[in-house]
Amino acid sequence: MIVCICHGINDKAIRNAVSDGAVSLSDIACATGAGTCCGKCHDCVREIVDEQLSMLMPIAA
Ligand code: FES
Repeated sequence: MIVCICHGINDKAIRNAVSDGAVSLSDIACATGAGTCCGKCHDCVREIVDEQLSMLMPIAA
């Protein structure tokens, strides 16, 4: 599913960035470019980051 329309970034790219160490919106922006244009995807990006972090670190989440 495309999350950031401006840059054509999908949820898989965001999940991969989290698996590679991204933990915040700015980390995702640096890793993928998502969220660096209009910003309308910010809420969705945060949701995917939180979901992926909880899957990777279920005790900490
Ligand atoms: S949809 Fe992500 S920056 Fe515009």
